[in-house]
Amino acid sequence: MDQERIILETEKMVRDQLQEEQTGHDWFHIDRVTRNAAAIAEAENADVFVVTLAALLHDLADDKVVDDETEALQDIEDWLTGKGVAETDVRHVMKIIQTISFKGGNGQALESLEAKVVQDADRLDAIGAVGIARCFVYSGSKGSPMYGPDIKARESMTKEEYRKGKSTAVNHFYEKLLKLRDLMNTRRGYELADERHKFMETFLEQFYREVGR
Ligand code: ADP
Ligand code: NI
Repeated sequence: MDQERIILETEKMVRDQLQEEQTGHDWFHIDRVTRNAAAIAEAENADVFVVTLAALLHDLADDKVVDDETEALQDIEDWLTGKGVAETDVRHVMKIIQTISFKGGNGQALESLEAKVVQDADRLDAIGAVGIARCFVYSGSKGSPMYGPDIKARESMTKEEYRKGKSTAVNHFYEKLLKLRDLMNTRRGYELADERHKFMETFLEQFYREVGR
């Protein structure tokens, strides 16, 4: 099967699987990440095919989306192999989707340029106007308050604490969103992140003016 066809069929499969997703990992997140990833890949001379596949598949085995991560990873691998993707590319895509998640800052080091590109694209979608919107949607879905002057932002945390601990949507800016710009792996990723970062700072200034503290 040619690469274009593999990508189209993967797109359709992912869209079908994430239709009901309500934690900010819906198809539109995947679509934005995939488009940003491809654009960064072009700018950084990375392998666009591997980057596109990994971006499309990057959330399908996330512990927020599925109950059994191991089974979900196996399904993804079987999908790629079934489409005739070369074994080295299958291994590369699998490695990328297993290493890029933020997980409270406890993620593993990334080995390839393609992994760095996909992670940058995923992180871009967590900042800026879209990132702000996703943060409030995610918080709401977990029943967290949007803001609480008495609930302090956490400095460092384990993966468990990051997922389960009590916090607020506004605290999430300090716990993650405002850290992402300086964690960008690629030059193009950093340039795109910078504009979004500044917009979040403006948002917070206005927010504090409106809440009066
Ligand atoms: P992770 O970085 O742990 O893999 P994701 O990036 O998949 O999490 O998170 C999906 C979206 O939900 C992102 O926009 C992220 O910023 C937001 N999000 C994750 N955890 C929280 C939280 N505790 N409070 C508010 N938003 C969150
Ligand atoms: Ni994602």
